[in-house]
Amino acid sequence: MADTPCIIRLENLSYAYPGTGEKVLDHLNLEIFQGDRIGMMAPNGSGKTTLLHTIMGLCKPDEGTVTIFGKAMTQEKDFLPVRSQIGLLFQDSDDQLFCPTVMEDVAFGPLNLGFSRNDAVDMARKTLEGLGMAAFEQSITHRLSGGQKRLVALAAVLAMNPKVLLLDEPTAGLDNTVKERLIHILSRLDISYLVISHEFDFVSAVTDKIYSMENGRVLTDADIHIHRHEHVHKHGLQPHIHK
Ligand SMILES: Nc1ncnc2c1ncn2[C@@H]1O[C@H](COP(=O)(O)OP(=O)(O)O)[C@@H](O)[C@H]1O
Ligand SMILES: [Mg+2]
Repeated sequence: MADTPCIIRLENLSYAYPGTGEKVLDHLNLEIFQGDRIGMMAPNGSGKTTLLHTIMGLCKPDEGTVTIFGKAMTQEKDFLPVRSQIGLLFQDSDDQLFCPTVMEDVAFGPLNLGFSRNDAVDMARKTLEGLGMAAFEQSITHRLSGGQKRLVALAAVLAMNPKVLLLDEPTAGLDNTVKERLIHILSRLDISYLVISHEFDFVSAVTDKIYSMENGRVLTDADIHIHRHEHVHKHGLQPHIHK
């Protein structure tokens, strides 16, 4: 691993939401290397979203350091150039999509990066095509289904050609068809990512290692062993409850 660049390094990071006094992140450490495909499975409220927001500079840590692409992020202006290179897929697609049409939503990022209107539309079109969403180019975003919105939100992130993706529960509320599509899309992407999910089947299909969070810290795969629970019943298909 010595030659593999560390793209995101969090050291000794602590964070409490203002006025709460409760450390959501507590001396947390995390490293994401180029080529990493990391899954993160942890209970609701354990700080997963907060962790992603800290990486993006949306939550400012009370303690510790955030280093991105080898540069320490000490103030807001340090985050500006790196934000476009880190694609954050929000937990709620409606937080990501705010334009009237799909094309405008997906072209927004490239336009913001300074590409011409023609180039931005071109990039948006290619990205939508790659995700099988070309037919929705002129659709009204807020009328799309949850699954379609999730794919458009992903297109909006990918159109900026990020170096790393942070995906916050991308399969939440989606049916199996869209989940399968997401698995297919992520498996083909040549990009590093950290994906938060509660779904073991999804996480194990798209990642190489699975981390967790507890007491404000990240537990790596050296600390945990998440596995699928399989069992048999002596009397065939008897109904039973899992707790
Ligand atoms: N804006 C906020 N203000 C105060 N507390 C918050 C805020 N957002 C999240 N929290 C609290 O921080 C903790 C971690 O939240 P979050 O990062 O959303 O967890 P997860 O994504 O793992 O479900 C929770 O206890 C949550 O209630
Ligand atoms: Mg969350």
